[in-house]
Amino acid sequence: MDHFEIRGGEMFAEDVPLSAIAEAVGTPVYVYSAGTLRRHARVFQQALSALDRPLVAFAVKANPNIAVLKLLGQEGLGADVVSEGEMRRALAAGIPADRIVFSGVGKTDPEMEAALEAGILQLNVESEGELERLSAVAARSGRTAEIALRVNPDVDARTLAKISTGKAENKFGIPLDRAEALYARAASLPGIRAVGVAAHIGSQLFDLAPLEAAYRKLGELVARLRAAGLTVSRVDLGGGLGIPYDPALPPPPSPADYGAMVKRVTDEWPDRAGIRLMFEPGRLIAGNAGVLLSRVVTVKEGAARRFVVLDAAMNDLIRPTLYGVYHDIRAVRPRPGETLATIVGPVCETGDMFAEDRRLTPLQEGDLVALMTAGAYGATMAGTYNSRPLVGEVLVDGSRQAVIRPRQTLEELLALDRVPDWL
Ligand code: LLP
Repeated sequence: MDHFEIRGGEMFAEDVPLSAIAEAVGTPVYVYSAGTLRRHARVFQQALSALDRPLVAFAVKANPNIAVLKLLGQEGLGADVVSEGEMRRALAAGIPADRIVFSGVGKTDPEMEAALEAGILQLNVESEGELERLSAVAARSGRTAEIALRVNPDVDARTLAKISTGKAENKFGIPLDRAEALYARAASLPGIRAVGVAAHIGSQLFDLAPLEAAYRKLGELVARLRAAGLTVSRVDLGGGLGIPYDPALPPPPSPADYGAMVKRVTDEWPDRAGIRLMFEPGRLIAGNAGVLLSRVVTVKEGAARRFVVLDAAMNDLIRPTLYGVYHDIRAVRPRPGETLATIVGPVCETGDMFAEDRRLTPLQEGDLVALMTAGAYGATMAGTYNSRPLVGEVLVDGSRQAVIRPRQTLEELLALDRVPDWL
């Protein structure tokens, strides 16, 4: 469910017409709905309400805007971060350190130091080398790092290969058969307190079965660790639940279906007592809380097809180019009828294409369109290819709107370069 609806022939973000935002700040621009973000945070937490004190840590990578993080923090969410930059954003947004988890396969020493200094809840460790380095960094600074071992449960998440993370051949996590030895090692190292285990098997999942299989393996691992006399008090179940991008496809499992599965599976764990569960949803919270608002620059009749050229491009929203995935595209003021169009951006690459031979309402030069479900992995993956300034972001809350990131100016973009004086 989202708050982007046609009212009186025109699409609104909550109570603000998208055309008014385009007038005020120009295009392309990301527009987020505060109401949708809040609703998703509540629905997900509600779906987990049968669990004892679950921690829902929003995956900051999905949408790291500080205003968005602040809003989600106010809803009680924590943050799952994968870099010092993301951690600083979460802290700047007022998310308490004891709700922040640091994941990622290549944390540097300075990042570890920063995490310890900030006093975050937990670091999810992904390799032997990282564990030893973290111990050294913690011991040096006289601090203790609470860690979970991220394991690779070797299950096929049945999603796109590029966003699948839980198979043996993926770079993520520690092989399950090495987890016990490494956990014991962690428990013996200075500066380390081993508190739990973690897994994240992939993103945009439409099937609960692989998640269930992974969670069962985690439960068995917890029992083995405890049987070996080790302490386990937290299990991080990751993120990954899919969202509907294509309205023509059957919907993904609901948060309630997911919550019921988690409850059922974890209740069956051999040794469940005293375990706090943690979750890292990203897309589910932010995905359909945002659209990329863009204007048609021109309509071009090619030899083989009609091209609608937008002022947004692959540098602003790279998902269709990178993964070949579907984003719904809607006219802000839809006209009657339907035509076939290929929707592209102005960047000099054939792959700069948002939709190929898409059936949609007729579009003309100057029309506004909304690329839907762009609130997660949208603005955050934007770049400046073709020297196009970084895209801006607007947050709408009821009838209020605010620029939460101005579009970069060309002056700012050019000012990043330095020309050595010997040229
Ligand atoms: N936790 C960890 C350790 C992760 O690696 C990820 C996503 C998440 C949580 C959040 O997953 P979510 O709930 O959003 O599915 N750029 C890609 C998605 C990459 C996801 C990477 N990791 C896309 O646009 O589809």
